[in-house]
Amino acid sequence: RQTPVIAPSILSADFARLGEDTAKVLAAGADWVHFDVMDNHYVPNLTIGPMVCEALRKYGVTAPIDVHLMVEPVDALAASFAKAGATYITFHPEATRHVDRSLQAIRDAGCKPGLVFNPATPLEVLKYVIDKVDLVLLMSVNPGFGGQSFIPSALAKLREARAIIDASGREIRLEIDGGVKVDNIGEIAAAGADSFVAGSAIFNSKDYAATIAKMREAIAS
Ligand code: DX5
Ligand code: ZN
Repeated sequence: RQTPVIAPSILSADFARLGEDTAKVLAAGADWVHFDVMDNHYVPNLTIGPMVCEALRKYGVTAPIDVHLMVEPVDALAASFAKAGATYITFHPEATRHVDRSLQAIRDAGCKPGLVFNPATPLEVLKYVIDKVDLVLLMSVNPGFGGQSFIPSALAKLREARAIIDASGREIRLEIDGGVKVDNIGEIAAAGADSFVAGSAIFNSKDYAATIAKMREAIAS
């Protein structure tokens, strides 16, 4: 199993002081920056784009940036994010016409590609592109907003995804996104996740470092 990764979702950060807040959460022990991109089309909300990703790099953020595209179509924005300094770029398979091509384009642009599955989306396509993904992201809420409750059926789906990944023999991260808190992250880890997105649980807490430390403890126990 890969080393656990905590990826705070900056969707819940202070957008008016995004550079500072991102630096603060990284200094508090976060591993990655989870960057939620919403287009008011694929999801009913609008957030931040490649210029903001580039601005974070210029500000001095060197940690991996985990770009979660909730956009349709995918390819043009994925290319812009590769130029803007993204590390991982994940997209929802139903949001692009040619999943294999979109994954390959992200790889060719020098980034690590991944697929995101909504709560009711089957993992079926994975079997055809497992050799092309570096990350599988399971949504444990319906995408579009921070602060929603964890959907319990995601636990069984994590076990299913874990089995597929292990059978592939490849080093693929299994990430969970939505409603992750200190009090449920232990069972989420036990179900097979190794990478944990948390937005409101971290940014709405007073002490980021203490929250992240508690999360790591719960993952390890
Ligand atoms: C939802 C986003 C999530 C969200 C998580 O569409 O993909 O990354 O910000 O927020 P919390 O941890 O508050 O559920
Ligand atoms: Zn996300």
